Amino acid sequence: MKKKVTTDWWNEFFAEFRPFFAKISAKVTNAEIKFYINKLNLKLGQTFLDCPIGIGRIAIPLAKKGIIITGVDIMPSYLGELAEKSNKAKLPIKLFHQDMRKIVFENEFDVVGNLWTSFGYFEKDADNLLVLKKLYKALKPGGKFVIQLINRDWIMKNFVSNNWEEVAGVKILESRVFNYENSSCVTDYAFIKDGEEKTLTSYIRMYSYHELKQMLEIVGFVNIDGYGSVTEEPINRNNREMFIFADKPM
Ligand SMILES: C[S@@+](CC[C@H](N)C(=O)[O-])C[C@H]1O[C@@H](n2cnc3c(N)ncnc32)[C@H](O)[C@@H]1O
Repeated sequence: MKKKVTTDWWNEFFAEFRPFFAKISAKVTNAEIKFYINKLNLKLGQTFLDCPIGIGRIAIPLAKKGIIITGVDIMPSYLGELAEKSNKAKLPIKLFHQDMRKIVFENEFDVVGNLWTSFGYFEKDADNLLVLKKLYKALKPGGKFVIQLINRDWIMKNFVSNNWEEVAGVKILESRVFNYENSSCVTDYAFIKDGEEKTLTSYIRMYSYHELKQMLEIVGFVNIDGYGSVTEEPINRNNREMFIFADKPM
């Protein structure tokens, strides 16, 4: 059975997604940040575009280390929450409310990141490629790129059609269908809180490492290097995550 998703599904979906941020522990986030700093050779005063930035999970700790952050996101409530947090902490984070396909930065940033499976949201493959093109364009010549996302090959080994969990007081039921014609996963979510249920659907085009590598090459990236974990395991079907680094040539 093929499931359908509404166009612009992310607008409604991410409004309900907020409890999911509590799923990633500070320990995991700190290990990721350490890994990014090391692999990207991030230094005080460098500029970093976090697209999409969410609620600043990675951006706030980087800003605290003196990295100059710019963030883009589609969700006004996340941007509002982040603006409040960064103002309070006196962290100068610049925020833009924008679709990631429409960013217009050119040769601006030392580093660009697309983190925590923030990729593959568009039903047209050309739109997903467009995101990579825009992120590439935003980098200065010689700049560094990182994308971190779920690994399709792990999904193939571990696919589960239905599951449920409770996160931050919200019961979340997920029902997934994988479409082999276009390597997408359409998931129906039921978010249940205080006896009220809200049902939403997400669409993610799933990518294997070799496919992403090809796309990055098409866009112009060089020195593409991928890891299956922050401890530099290889990308294979046993590792859920992919951390892929690449450079924009000088
Ligand atoms: C899984 S979260 C990751 C957030 C952040 N990168 C992190 O690591 O915590 C995905 C983010 O993508 C944003 N998003 C979804 N669709 C978008 C779009 N079309 N353009 C820009 N941002 C989008 C959501 O609002 C959400 O903040």
